[in-house]
Amino acid sequence: MTDRIAKPFLKWAGGKTQLINDIEKALPNDISKDKFTYIEPFVGSGAVLFWMLNNFPNLKKAVINDINEDLINTYKTIASRPKELISILDILQNEYHGLEGQDEEKKEYYYSKRELYNTRKEEQSGQAALFIFLNRTCFNGLYRVNRKNEYNVPMGSYKRPTICDNENILAVSQALQKVEILCGDYEETLNHADNNTLFYFDPPYKPLSETSSFNSYAKDEFNDAEQIRLRDFCHKLDALNHTWILSNSDVKGKDENDNFFDDLYSDFKIERVNAKRSINANPEKRGLLKELLITNNNKVAITI
Ligand SMILES: C[S@@+](CC[C@H](N)C(=O)[O-])C[C@H]1O[C@@H](n2cnc3c(N)ncnc32)[C@H](O)[C@@H]1O
Repeated sequence: MTDRIAKPFLKWAGGKTQLINDIEKALPNDISKDKFTYIEPFVGSGAVLFWMLNNFPNLKKAVINDINEDLINTYKTIASRPKELISILDILQNEYHGLEGQDEEKKEYYYSKRELYNTRKEEQSGQAALFIFLNRTCFNGLYRVNRKNEYNVPMGSYKRPTICDNENILAVSQALQKVEILCGDYEETLNHADNNTLFYFDPPYKPLSETSSFNSYAKDEFNDAEQIRLRDFCHKLDALNHTWILSNSDVKGKDENDNFFDDLYSDFKIERVNAKRSINANPEKRGLLKELLITNNNKVAITI
């Protein structure tokens, strides 16, 4: 048992910590009552999930999903075998920190673990430990794979990064006991909805430029056709009386004539909120960006 508050155990592109205040304002008024099911179909590092679990302990149930099998394997391992995972992470951390100051050896160590991870032959907790190790030690906490699903992010330059956060893994494990963990396409989560369900969608964002392509988290690209499929799904949820909130990039910030999302979601409420992105290879682009927060909660369309 631990009294620590669970927080994301990964660095992940598009982490939502910065947007929590805006998301909170968009929640249904009666979310604190004990009847709500919370579903997060693109969970990533789960910043919103952990915030919801910590702040609304009365949720009837929570369901998370992601198409990334390695990520979901890690969630499942933390939920069911946290101590085994901690013991492996502890070894990885000691070995890696022991190489501080020996750049060549450290690099060799990182790339040998990356190769081992890509064989996907370790058992469940070994594979999860490698997933967390790579996330903590790679360049900018990125998760990127090639067409063969091989993780290909180079080593990062963090000094003595925390690889094994025992307390948080135990806290996350405890928090996940009331969470159903799924791996598949987001549309499948509809089978888990109840009468009072809130969906929070944080899909791979539409890139603001060809090079800012942070949407390659999985083997398959999340292109415009995928954004349209997601909009159709949101319409379906609306017709079924489920509440949803969705984040995406604000393409208008780049080109004021780009009405892609304004057109797609014209039936719903679209807000433009400030978001400081922390994962960007170019420090000059780490400034203030707007993001979209779209919801069918209170369907009065507002113009900002
Ligand atoms: C922007 S990230 C989510 C960020 C996350 N909410 C956070 O706070 O860190 C998008 C996630 O969608 C997942 N994904 C991509 N296509 C998907 C699909 N068709 N169904 C479910 N998940 C998908 C990716 O694996 C990735 O983890």
